[in-house]
Amino acid sequence: MNRIGIIFAMKEELEATLEKLEVINEFKIFDLDFFECKYKDKTCVLVECGIGKVNAARCSQILIDNLEIDVILNVGVAGGISSFVNICDVVVADKLVQHDFDLRPFDYERGFIPKVGKYINCDEYLVKLASEINIDNKISIGTIASGDIFVTEEMMGKKINDKFSALCVEMEGAAIAQICYLSNVPFLVIRSISDSPNGNNNITFDEFLDQSSKMAANFLIQLLNKIN
Ligand code: ADE
Repeated sequence: MNRIGIIFAMKEELEATLEKLEVINEFKIFDLDFFECKYKDKTCVLVECGIGKVNAARCSQILIDNLEIDVILNVGVAGGISSFVNICDVVVADKLVQHDFDLRPFDYERGFIPKVGKYINCDEYLVKLASEINIDNKISIGTIASGDIFVTEEMMGKKINDKFSALCVEMEGAAIAQICYLSNVPFLVIRSISDSPNGNNNITFDEFLDQSSKMAANFLIQLLNKIN
């Protein structure tokens, strides 16, 4: 795994990682700006995909089709919906689900996608490497739920935690997982907690976006050190 695609939804998330790498080349595909970076023996291709599942899916497919990457990592922030996670903790997904995918009128379980499934597993080798990283006991491994909603209502967060046993919510990870699954590309999602749905967590999000982005970036660097 020497050529690594790294997808961020927002500029702040991208910049927290760009600061830590040496950019050797920049190029554009359509509206997307790609930053080819060197880290030790690895080449990382960083890109800001924009917010939401469609942007994330489209960017993943562009990386896979054009840039000969061996693996995709998705790095950024998320809203905590479990009592086990706190602001600025890191959550590594072992699997992802789309909490807003709903074909229940046709007898599918909530979140189930025909020909794909309900949960999509991250690459086992990457999850194992991530599980060996310890930053002050602030790392959790579990389910991440994605949907095209910035979750603010506490009840909605509770419901997503209850229905999918998810630790946090965000808006891209499961779409990237779906594309990687369909194209047979290994992937991992790494998020740090910026807020927790409580009615006004859009304020907390703004306050902690930079700090939690840095936590996720630090974790990513530790993971890059371990990937063979
Ligand atoms: N990303 C960060 N916080 C989030 C939230 N509360 N809902 C969805 N995506 C998020």
